[in-house]
Amino acid sequence: MSVDVIVGLQWGDEGKGRIVDFYAREYDVVARFGGGDNAGHSLVVKNERIALRLVPSGILQPKTELFIGGGCVVNPGTLVEELELLSKLGVDPRRLFLSDRAHVVLPAHLEADKRREAERAQPIGTTGRGIGPAYADRASRSGVTLREYCERYSTPEARRLAAHVVDGVAYIHERLGERKRVLAEGAQGTMLDVTYGTYPYVTSASTIAGAACTGLGVGPGMVGRVIGIAKAYCTRVGAGPFPSELQGGEGERLRERGHEFGTVTGRPRRCGWFDAVAARYAVHVNGIDAVVLTKLDVLSGFERVGIVTAYAPDGSVETEYLAGWAQDVRGTRRLADLPLAASRFVTTLQNLIGVPIELVSVGPERDDLAR
Ligand code: GTP
Ligand code: IMP
Ligand code: MG
Repeated sequence: MSVDVIVGLQWGDEGKGRIVDFYAREYDVVARFGGGDNAGHSLVVKNERIALRLVPSGILQPKTELFIGGGCVVNPGTLVEELELLSKLGVDPRRLFLSDRAHVVLPAHLEADKRREAERAQPIGTTGRGIGPAYADRASRSGVTLREYCERYSTPEARRLAAHVVDGVAYIHERLGERKRVLAEGAQGTMLDVTYGTYPYVTSASTIAGAACTGLGVGPGMVGRVIGIAKAYCTRVGAGPFPSELQGGEGERLRERGHEFGTVTGRPRRCGWFDAVAARYAVHVNGIDAVVLTKLDVLSGFERVGIVTAYAPDGSVETEYLAGWAQDVRGTRRLADLPLAASRFVTTLQNLIGVPIELVSVGPERDDLAR
């Protein structure tokens, strides 16, 4: 049991990047198992924001290896840019390994993504990164693997990436054979999963914990803990169902206070209260052992905080309101020291989700965490 998994429980952007960074110190390898540069993880270190799209969020741990698994789709240009960013940050590029079985996002995929969106009567609001067409080509067996790309193409990008391409299955099993600890880092969130999300308003990959097995080439018996990340409220980028969405002032306030604008596209994120129905569903489809709650600080100053507790058959939702809290919680390091109303909010969520909340993030900085 040496692969632990971190996944998003909502529609992505739960803050997985910085939580993976926190847990990464206990692991030898941090591995991405799906998605591509549609993801955007932000880490904040000493007020400086580092945005990663493809490279796993374990970069700040000096010895952790970084692996991009066979379930991912890789845009070579983005990856080369990220490698350059890493070398500026003093990260040894030899820590990055790419599975030969990952697929390549080609310029034609980006064009097809934009074209298909324009043709749709109801656009999905994709990130325009060619992710859907690249996965579609993989499924229809006309895609290009990283291995093929590096062998056949003589572009500078292909030559640059070739140094990092390995036999992905051998790589992960050698590490596991040496009893190394692997943390599988999910991208996007459960509600964007191609099968279990709000289809067709989803991404084209499986984003749930089970995909860590197929995306890394390991059996289910190897999986240890599954940690789910949930924001203290909900956001969604792009079109599709969002039962707890707030249309008026409270939604705008969440967006402003939480800086809810897409990392990749800059689009304003739709905002709403915490959706306990969706969270319970996500706990089931992922087999969640523990939850990390992020961005609790964003709720400070709200007179009341909402939690959606049920969906009615007519499409409306039932919302439970709890008293808000005025205090800034950013400096809090122990859950017991949270303001009473904040503590009640966390306990209520925990009871509704049915899984322990083991860590609460109270700010964007690395150590803004309460336990
Ligand atoms: P995806 O793969 O796109 O789902 O990325 P992600 O889950 O890593 O989230 P992303 O980085 O897109 O968005 C999270 C944002 O919230 C980042 O800007 C973080 O710096 C910020 N953030 C994370 N945790 C907290 C927190 O507890 N409080 C505040 N105020 N900001 C946070
Ligand atoms: P695609 O993955 O670019 O095809 O986009 C499909 C849907 O998933 C759109 O609604 C996107 O906004 C959403 N999406 C894809 N990646 C992310 C992410 O990293 N965070 C949040 N939403 C995402
Ligand atoms: Mg993001």
